Amino acid sequence: MAQEDVFKKIVSHCKEYGFVFPSSDIYDGLGAVYDYGQNGVELKNNIKQYWWQAMVLLHENIVGIDSAIFMHPTIWKASGHVDAFNDPLIDNRDSKKRYRADVLIEEQIAKYEEKIEKEVAKGRKRFGDAFNEAEFRATNQRVIEHTQKRDALHERYSKAMNAMDLDELKQIILDEEIVCPISGTRNWTDVRQFNLMFKTEVGSTAEGASTIYLRPETAQGIFVNYLNVQKTGRMKIPFGIAQIGKAFRNEIVARQFIFRMREFEQMEMQYFVKPGTELDWFKQWKQTRLAWHKALGFGDENYRFHDHEKLAHYANAASDIEFKMPFGFKEVEGIHSRTNFDLSQHAKFSGHKIEYFDPETNESYTPYVIETSIGVDRMFLSVMCHSYEEETLENGETRTVLRLPAPLAPVKLAILPLVKKDGLPEKAHEIMNDLKFHFNCKYEEKDSIGKRYRRQDAIGTPYCITVDHDTLNDNCVTLRNRDTMTQERVPIASLRDLIEDKVSITSLLKKL
Ligand code: GAP
Repeated sequence: MAQEDVFKKIVSHCKEYGFVFPSSDIYDGLGAVYDYGQNGVELKNNIKQYWWQAMVLLHENIVGIDSAIFMHPTIWKASGHVDAFNDPLIDNRDSKKRYRADVLIEEQIAKYEEKIEKEVAKGRKRFGDAFNEAEFRATNQRVIEHTQKRDALHERYSKAMNAMDLDELKQIILDEEIVCPISGTRNWTDVRQFNLMFKTEVGSTAEGASTIYLRPETAQGIFVNYLNVQKTGRMKIPFGIAQIGKAFRNEIVARQFIFRMREFEQMEMQYFVKPGTELDWFKQWKQTRLAWHKALGFGDENYRFHDHEKLAHYANAASDIEFKMPFGFKEVEGIHSRTNFDLSQHAKFSGHKIEYFDPETNESYTPYVIETSIGVDRMFLSVMCHSYEEETLENGETRTVLRLPAPLAPVKLAILPLVKKDGLPEKAHEIMNDLKFHFNCKYEEKDSIGKRYRRQDAIGTPYCITVDHDTLNDNCVTLRNRDTMTQERVPIASLRDLIEDKVSITSLLKKL
């Protein structure tokens, strides 16, 4: 099945099984805004819990906060977001559609890459076992041509973006003969800057309302609390502050479902370090974060780092962790070495001295910061994409199964009485009332056992138990495993021991 079709199926599966709904669905939705349903919220909470515990529980020197979304408007002036948090936009006059100029060019670069990979795949097919990929890439004329075009475009694009040369961005689009996907024409306007922050007003107009912004990142809430936390927590450098919360960006290219949203959630951690040590910490956090992703067991080959050439105004190093989605390798998390830019700016704009006094060396300095920043929704999407499978069974039937890592699954155990009578529902409820204190259980009695198993497979429930007539005599149930579909008879008394370890977040944390 084409990857595009797989992705469409995942999107409709998310809606059909209560994971993600379009926001304001009965009003035909609101662009790039989504709601999480009864299963989605559980999965999302489990992802957040895995992150929070990996940060705050496992590191003695990392603490959490929860800062407000509304903040003093000067914060965004100090951080540079008012002046520099812009996307370069271009309109097509015929379709009246608006695009991000950088995205159009990046898609063009990706097209050259696709062409290269197609040639390589053809070569592999033609030469079979004798295929030498490195030699083929170095000598095949078509590959060489596409590679040269890609590299030249990449260099020109990086230069234009670094200088934010809007005329050059437009010229690249014209020279590359990039057309509007809707109208198919090259009738482009000039490229303009567009600020991504949402504005609103606080206070009534009579009192004199002032404009404030919905935060585009949670990080600034951490920076402006640096002094509060350092002092009240008596934190010694190096130390970190973690936060999970909503962020808002008026994204123009809002595509690919929950990959790029206007309202989304971030999990960010700012690690305050001594100046001069930041690049070592940057390397270390890259590895720590990659290990967190890999512990989910999705396969090491599905991750890669993308080290940035174009650095944000505040960074002296930056790298993304990319995950292989059905639409290619995409950024899920950013690790940034943000220097002392933010703290220095807030010191300047607020008039407060924001420094750290090192009791060992008797010196004061403005700490440098390593940031790890991951989008909850993108992480959710990567988990869904990797877990969704349409499996062909031995009898030729297909089953849709979400192979979620058990600790992230919304429901850990489904409790199913074989029939709705003969005391089986009562026995099933008794088991549920005991186990529900330890992990998330779901009781279901409607439809045949086979149908109930399939429903649980579709939401990723790792275990089901069936309560049958024998249960009333032998106090045993049939335990069914989602992945292997094997069934075994086990005593009710051993269920907690058999399941709890495998479905707990702790089991993931122990792999780190
Ligand atoms: N504080 C740094 C910062 O915000 P970023 O690279 O702009 O850096 C960090 O964002 C992460 O937030 C991204 O890697 C992505 O996972 C998530 N993210 C950013 N914009 C998003 C959007 N519009 N929708 C969903 N997630 C987004």
